[in-house]
Amino acid sequence: MQVIERNSDLRTVLGEVKKKGLRVGFVPTMGFLHEGHLSLVRAARQENDFVVVSIFVNPIQFGAGEDYQDYPRDLERDCKLASAEGCDLIFSPPVIEMYPPGYATFVEVENLTETLCGARRPGHFRGVTTVVAKLFNLVAPDQVYFGQKDAQQALVLKKMVTDLNMDLQFHILPTIREDDGLAMSSRNKYLSPRQRREAAVLYRSLQEAERLIQGGVRSAQDVKAAMVSLIAGAEEAEIDYVEIVQAANLLPLERLQGACLVALAVRFGKTRLIDNILLEV
Ligand code: PAJ
Repeated sequence: MQVIERNSDLRTVLGEVKKKGLRVGFVPTMGFLHEGHLSLVRAARQENDFVVVSIFVNPIQFGAGEDYQDYPRDLERDCKLASAEGCDLIFSPPVIEMYPPGYATFVEVENLTETLCGARRPGHFRGVTTVVAKLFNLVAPDQVYFGQKDAQQALVLKKMVTDLNMDLQFHILPTIREDDGLAMSSRNKYLSPRQRREAAVLYRSLQEAERLIQGGVRSAQDVKAAMVSLIAGAEEAEIDYVEIVQAANLLPLERLQGACLVALAVRFGKTRLIDNILLEV
């Protein structure tokens, strides 16, 4: 497995790969890899001839006061994990390679970014779409792999791919969870033992939503209230949002119908966790 830091080196290697007619699968990440990331690498491995993983903690998707400086990093460990899954190339550019002085171009998807996490993290998705558009241009992948864990991100990026006529196949794969249901996340590492125990309430609240809806409840307000009261039982939990929206466009729902996304963001101390489930009503 090669580890590359420069755009020009990446172009050279991938030029050769493309000349051979190999199919390139790509998994963009911010590193500190866990089973969620590795499930994407595994899918990419199965469905392509050459697998690229990027590891880049993208400064422009973090807001002021967010955890950019503290975001966990361990490139050596990431390389071992990715290599064990059959990754062919890791691209881990320094910030200056992606954003040299004078950098001035940004990609923005409207509408889908104005709700849920977009409403609470101004500029976040602009940072995500910009870096992912750049990475797609650098890697020129045939297929790309994202996690349902970040449902809004996946939807926004899929929209960018459609709107900008990017020629690639977009895959969204299921959320990988710990034994107690907590969605795997690089940020789980920040949780104190008590917060980690309490954080299991997030998935329990999503399961409770599913149970209520399957039992016939159709008022989004009622389902959200049940979720909020469950989460409130965790002493360190501070709810950022609990929402039920239409899965296709993220618009709010009052009466539940069709494909619904039940999504939440909850803080435990300084750590903000997100999770969601998709339900067909
Ligand atoms: P990161 O949080 O490292 O996630 C990289 C990819 O792994 C994303 O597609 C994310 O949805 C997926 N992922 C994370 N946890 C997962 C889990 N428990 N199960 C399944 N998939 C999971 O998302 C980003 O990085 C960045 O915003 C990025 C797209 C790389 C742009 O900087």
